[in-house]
Amino acid sequence: MSGAEADQAALLAALSWQVEMGADEAIGDAPVDRFAAEAPPNATLPIATPPIAAPSAAVAASEDPVTEAGRLAAAAGTLEELRLALAGFDGCALKKGAQNLVFADGIAGAPLMIVGEAPGRDEDRLGKPFVGRSGQLLDRMLTAIGRDRTEAAAEQAVYITNVLPWRPPQNRDPATDEVAMMRAFLDRHIALAAPRVLLLMGNAAAKTLLETKTGITRLRGTWAEVQGIPALPTFHPAALLRNPANKRLVWQDLLSVRERLAAL
Ligand code: URA
Repeated sequence: MSGAEADQAALLAALSWQVEMGADEAIGDAPVDRFAAEAPPNATLPIATPPIAAPSAAVAASEDPVTEAGRLAAAAGTLEELRLALAGFDGCALKKGAQNLVFADGIAGAPLMIVGEAPGRDEDRLGKPFVGRSGQLLDRMLTAIGRDRTEAAAEQAVYITNVLPWRPPQNRDPATDEVAMMRAFLDRHIALAAPRVLLLMGNAAAKTLLETKTGITRLRGTWAEVQGIPALPTFHPAALLRNPANKRLVWQDLLSVRERLAAL
């Protein structure tokens, strides 16, 4: 490898590392000479004033964001109203760092509803849940039990959402306060979508909706109930990409879901 090729390889490796870490935007088209932009020695420095945070609608109305979320969620009478309520909700800081609201995909009213964790980079970019690598695996898993998010017929349809509708920075795990804040929206989402069976993928969905501290490894494969709807926790597709040996267990869970749906 020539010196120039080695430099190029190193630059590409550095770039892909930054993408891995969540950097998805280059700020500014033109280079800035920050030395030239420095203030001349005798210039009077402006007195620093602390930034005044613009109050969000929730704060202005002196309503805390969790209460506001509960009120907005309860007022939504349809999934579209819920989507609009979420789009207008400024109480969750994740919204500021996200490109898009990721509400749902698939067929509203499908007998099977899947709840994942939170959007990743691809989902944030496209505004749809499970469209990246783990989404591709999820689609293959669904095909294996005769489900397809693009099919409207009840025997094949599926509806997909997440615990959080905005991407956490660097794809970190959802924080407890974020989940608590968005919980009312998720509960309302399930109530309005009214599925017959829920598949809870990963720790965030299972622990949140089953209100337990028990991890997914112990929860998976055992049917529970959420709002009176049969709910099965299983491993998240992203976890299967890291640990393919667990695919065998998830296949058992998927067969169990298929059986439940067939018995409706
Ligand atoms: N992981 C999730 O939990 N949800 C998505 O939408 C994408 C990845």
